[in-house]
Amino acid sequence: MIFEQLNPGACRTYLIGDEQSQQAILVDPVLEHVPDYLKVLAQKKLVLTHAIDTHTHADHISGAAALKDQVGCEYVMHAQAPARCVTFHLTDGFECHLGNHPVKVLSTPGHTQDSITLVFHDRVLTGDVLFLGDAGAGRDDLPGGDAGAHWDSLQRILTLPEHLVVYPAHEYRDRLPSSLKDLKASNPLLKLSSKQAYVDYLDGLQLGPADWMKDVLEANYACARDPKAAWIPVDVPACEVKGTLARGVNDQQVAAIPVEQVKEQLKRKTPPMILDVRTPEEFTGELGHIPQALNIPVTGLSQRLGELESSKTKEIITVCKSGGRAHTAAQILMQAGFSHVHVMMGGMLGWNRPT
Ligand SMILES: [Fe+2]
Repeated sequence: MIFEQLNPGACRTYLIGDEQSQQAILVDPVLEHVPDYLKVLAQKKLVLTHAIDTHTHADHISGAAALKDQVGCEYVMHAQAPARCVTFHLTDGFECHLGNHPVKVLSTPGHTQDSITLVFHDRVLTGDVLFLGDAGAGRDDLPGGDAGAHWDSLQRILTLPEHLVVYPAHEYRDRLPSSLKDLKASNPLLKLSSKQAYVDYLDGLQLGPADWMKDVLEANYACARDPKAAWIPVDVPACEVKGTLARGVNDQQVAAIPVEQVKEQLKRKTPPMILDVRTPEEFTGELGHIPQALNIPVTGLSQRLGELESSKTKEIITVCKSGGRAHTAAQILMQAGFSHVHVMMGGMLGWNRPT
């Protein structure tokens, strides 16, 4: 069996092919990489029969619709998937073969209602239901997410043979694929004692989807073929549950402070730095900006961290229109070692709201 991960970044796309029949499937293709996939398929003389999404993605635009257009393959998702151009819907227990290789589909909701897990004889593709090591599992606060259902799905996956090697849809830190047996020891979310403990843990994180993720979902519902159909930040572990039990639940949480508190803090002798992460057009637009604010759009923040180096230990308050991008920016800063980062709740909409 041919098995390769094709993407350079944290989103994982798996090419699975059969040498004899020269047929192949792609799992979780990403739209911007479709030209690269077509080159790989041509090089290997493989015919793409199916493009499968393990769930409706919120962090990238699926390449399955474009692949369907360009090579005439089936676009496959779970029966609950809302994407309008899916041509083949799966249900729990569906079995088929890729050449001589059997594949079984499990319905594993939780991260989304339409999440599936693909079980091969030696490996299991878990989508965002189960990640590697202390990455834990996918978040459950997106539309249709259900922490209790996610717990049930994880328990179901844990009943599979322990030798199966887990290949998730995301890996943000280049962890190597490992077996279910190993993950039982290394993944903190698999060690929780009960469904209630799992639900309480995830509820306690109070993540809330960022605004940009809602735009990506809309693009995927509509089967977008334009990679610019939704704005997507770089370098953000967007699908991962932030914070793990191993590192401490609050490690990656961003503290939010109300507008009134920001206004009070700005009257101090040494006020906090205000980092406005909207576009320059928004910065000078109708909502205005906080007079002392520095404007670095979130899209380029990772590349411009050097400009903030002298403020690494100072208090920084991130601001955007409503709070979503500011939350993302705060996560980027915290991952880069900035120690006092807060988000202004409600963004400039809240700043301009009459008190
Ligand atoms: Fe996801």
